[in-house]
Amino acid sequence: MNRENFGSRLGAILAAAGSAVGLGNVWRFPIETGQNGGAAFIIIYILCILLLGLPVMISEFLIGRYTHTNTAGAYRILSKGSKWHWLGKMGVYTGWFILCYYAVVGGWTLHYTYLSLTNAFSGVKASDFGNIFNDFVSNPWIPLLWFYLFILLTHYVITRGVQSGIERSSKILMPTLFIIVVFLAVSSVMLPGASAGVEFLLRPDWSKVDSKTIIEAMGQAFFSLSLGMGCLCTYASYFDKTTPLGKTALHVSVIDTLIAILAGFIIFPSVFNIGMNPNEVGVGASLTFISLPNVFQQALGEGSLMSIIFSAFFYFLLFVAALTSAISLHEVATAYVTEEFNMTRNRGASLVTIVVLVLGTLCSLSFGPLSNIKILDRNIFSMFDDLSGVILLPIGVMFISLFAGWRLDKELYRNEISNHGDIETPYFKMLIFSLRFMIPLAILLVFLDQLGLFKAIFK
Ligand code: PFF
Repeated sequence: MNRENFGSRLGAILAAAGSAVGLGNVWRFPIETGQNGGAAFIIIYILCILLLGLPVMISEFLIGRYTHTNTAGAYRILSKGSKWHWLGKMGVYTGWFILCYYAVVGGWTLHYTYLSLTNAFSGVKASDFGNIFNDFVSNPWIPLLWFYLFILLTHYVITRGVQSGIERSSKILMPTLFIIVVFLAVSSVMLPGASAGVEFLLRPDWSKVDSKTIIEAMGQAFFSLSLGMGCLCTYASYFDKTTPLGKTALHVSVIDTLIAILAGFIIFPSVFNIGMNPNEVGVGASLTFISLPNVFQQALGEGSLMSIIFSAFFYFLLFVAALTSAISLHEVATAYVTEEFNMTRNRGASLVTIVVLVLGTLCSLSFGPLSNIKILDRNIFSMFDDLSGVILLPIGVMFISLFAGWRLDKELYRNEISNHGDIETPYFKMLIFSLRFMIPLAILLVFLDQLGLFKAIFK
């Protein structure tokens, strides 16, 4: 079959960085940093990226580029009839699953961009932002319409193909995202009283660091780098054979971390400017859609032009970040159905989109008309979120590292990362050690933690 490749190295890096830079960079990383000792957390996080994240990323790149096919096919080829072939399929379905709720949130970012542009937050009492959000998500129609728009945009990019769709959009969207992040961070840092926010984010406070901090840093590193779901493996299947895998992985990780740190510079200076307690801003959706609209109004002047510009850019930034991640998740599933079931790209993408439309509709409605459907005490949306992020992702990353460390032929591994001897790889032994022992052990800890097993021990 005729398979497209990325047309340039920059395009490949930006596409992979687009997958990595997502909602997680903005709505989780800054808060985790602020609450876990500032720079101390950042240092631990960077160590997690270097020691644990990079080896998995390089392995996923290698598996994709070597086999030159979709993730399920890639593991099937490399597992040569053994049970390991399940790993690829699991990645595909996990990614597909994540897309269903991730795209719903993508729709929310569009709605909040619209609300910002129409100055809808002006004059709202601080205590009413929660109601605005709850009224919105529980409405049976409006979130659905935004979700459909978001997924149709994703679908459009995917149907344009690897070069004119994914690569081209990444080359436009990623620089746009970077410019917006810098603009927002600089504006926020220039607010009166902002230095306390910068200090909160950067002052290393080692007394806040305990085993729990390290576990959180690991979990965040894996999610943020888009590991374990076939995204990077699928994108790497479009790399050409001369792409340096180690260097590309490093570039992607640096971009991802830089954006996450800059997101902290957007959020905390504004929070401190209005004298809000940074421990009360919440995390995830409540931070993004309830606390921050209020923070931006008050910090930049209620209803002022600057508050409109700032908040519209902020939600647009979230939209762009979510879109490029959603594109990567969609591509994993599209490449899979197209190649494994011999469909045209358009047909494959349509099948993926239809499934996402159906399941995503259920996720979206689970805040409104379907809110009484509970599985293990969670609504459908949280069930999707927890199942993929808390259970399938750590399992996926753990098995990928075991597969790469123990099962893949070491000569093949070395040949691939050195591009058959063209590139020095002094880190090879360390990499294999990490894949074989450090990562599986680390994930076991993350996993046990997420199951709540450490809560009792570490209070
Ligand atoms: N890395 C993205 C984020 O930080 O929001 C989320 C994500 C995208 C996770 C794609 C996994 C994935 F395969």
